[in-house]
Amino acid sequence: MSNSIEVKNPATGELIKEVGVQTAEEIHHAIEKGHMEFKRWSKVNAHERSKLLKAWSHKIQENKEEIAKVMTMENGKPLSESLGEVNYATSYIDWYAEEAIRIYGRTVPAATESKRIVVTRQPIGLVAAITPWNFPAAMMTRKAAPALAAGCTFIVKAAEDTPLTTMTLIELAHDAGIPKDAIQYVNGKGSEVGPLFTNSPLIRKITFTGSTPVGKSLIKGSADTVKHVTMELGGHAPLIIAEDADLVLAVSQTIISKYRNAGQTCVCVNRILVHESLVDAFAEKFTKAVAKLKVGNGLDETTDIGPIINEKGFDKIVAQINDALEKGAEVLIGNKYQVDRDKGYFFIHPTVLKNVDASMDIMQEETFGPVAPITTFKTIEEAIEIANNTPYGLAAYFFTENYKTGMYLHDHLDFGIIGWNDGAPSAAHAPFGGMKESGLGREGGIEGIEPYLETKYLSVGNLVN
Ligand code: SIN
Repeated sequence: MSNSIEVKNPATGELIKEVGVQTAEEIHHAIEKGHMEFKRWSKVNAHERSKLLKAWSHKIQENKEEIAKVMTMENGKPLSESLGEVNYATSYIDWYAEEAIRIYGRTVPAATESKRIVVTRQPIGLVAAITPWNFPAAMMTRKAAPALAAGCTFIVKAAEDTPLTTMTLIELAHDAGIPKDAIQYVNGKGSEVGPLFTNSPLIRKITFTGSTPVGKSLIKGSADTVKHVTMELGGHAPLIIAEDADLVLAVSQTIISKYRNAGQTCVCVNRILVHESLVDAFAEKFTKAVAKLKVGNGLDETTDIGPIINEKGFDKIVAQINDALEKGAEVLIGNKYQVDRDKGYFFIHPTVLKNVDASMDIMQEETFGPVAPITTFKTIEEAIEIANNTPYGLAAYFFTENYKTGMYLHDHLDFGIIGWNDGAPSAAHAPFGGMKESGLGREGGIEGIEPYLETKYLSVGNLVN
C-alpha cells in the first residue's frame, strides 16, 4: 500500500492536500476498536444517541460554507450544489436522529395460554462503508446516521478522489460528542481496503455505493463471513415523455435530472424517450435550455456544470459520444471539451444527441456525464419495453398529465425510484435503492434503518395465568 493519497482539484488539476493512508495493520486495529466500542455504544440509551446525532447535524450546519468549499474543490461540483449536498447530508442525520427513538418491537399472541412471544430489535454490530466521490457528504451520512441511530458502530473508507469532505464530517461528529471509535474513517484504495473489510469477522455489515462490478465483488467477498450487505449500484435511468406531457415542465425537470453534478449521479437520466409526435418540439426547447448552462470551475458562482472527476471518467464519456456519432446520432449541442491531460482537468460541455438507437453504447451503458441522448417511441408499451431493457433498475422518470397513463407506467417500470413529473425524487424520508443489478436494500425513510437491525424473538413458557 502507498502511504499517501494526493487529492487534486478536478477543475484545475492542482494538488489540494496529501492525506495519509492507513496500513493493513492500522485498519485491523481500527476494526478492533470499532468492534470493542460496539459493546458500549449499543447500550447507550436511544434518546442519548438521538441527541448526539442532532448535535452532529448542528455542527455540520455551523460549518457548512467551509465544508461546501472543500467539497467543490475535491469533487468539482458547483458551490450551490455542494451547499445543497451539505443540507441533503444533514437531512439524513436529522431523520435518523428521530428514528433512533422509534425502533419498536412487538408481542405476538401465542398458541398456548402459558406462553408469551416477544419480538425485539437489536443493532447488528460494526458496519463498514465504502462511499463514492460523486456525493462525498450525503452518501456517507445516509449510511452512518441510521447505523449510529440503531446502535451500530461505523467505519468508512471514502473514495480516493474525495476523502476530505468525509474526514471533515467525521471530525465534526467527534466534536459533537459521538465517541471516536463509534465512527471512524480510514483512507486507501478500494481494492486494498475492500478485502480487509469483507474478510474481517468483526464487521457484520458492508454498505456500499458505487459501481455494479465492485458491488458484486463485495457481495462475493462478504459470503465467507455471511455479512449483511446493502448495495447502491449503477443506474441507466430512462425518462419517458408521453404524448400528453407538459413540455415546459418536462424540459426543466430533465435539465435537473440530467445535468446535476455534471451528469455524474447514479439516478441521472441516461436515456430520454420522447413520443414521436413531440420529439422535435422537445428537442428544440431542451437544446435552448441546455445552451444556457455555463461550464467552469465550481468555485465560480455562475458555473452550472463543473469538471468530470478524472481522466478515466472523461474517456468513457467521449468514447460513448463517438460511438453514437459513428452509428448515426446527430449532435444538437455540445460535444466540446476543455482538456489538459498533463495538468489533469477534463470538462465536457453539456451535449444533446438526437437519433440515437439501441445499437449505441450510450443506450446500453451508464454514462456518468453531461450527455443527453434522445430517442423516440410510438406507444407507451414500446416505451416501457425500451426502458426495462437493461440489467439496471435504479431510477426512472416519466412525464404525463394523464393519471391512467401515469399509474400504468408506475406499475410496469422495473425501477426502485420513480419520478412522475419530477426530476429530483431523492429525499431522506423516502427509500432510495434499486432493483435488479442496481442493488440490494434501501437507504432513507423508515426502510433505511432496517438493514442495521437484527430481529430477536423470545418465547417465554410455563407461565401461570
Ligand atoms: C447517487 O448518485 O448515488 C445518489 C444520488 C441521490 O441521492 O440523489
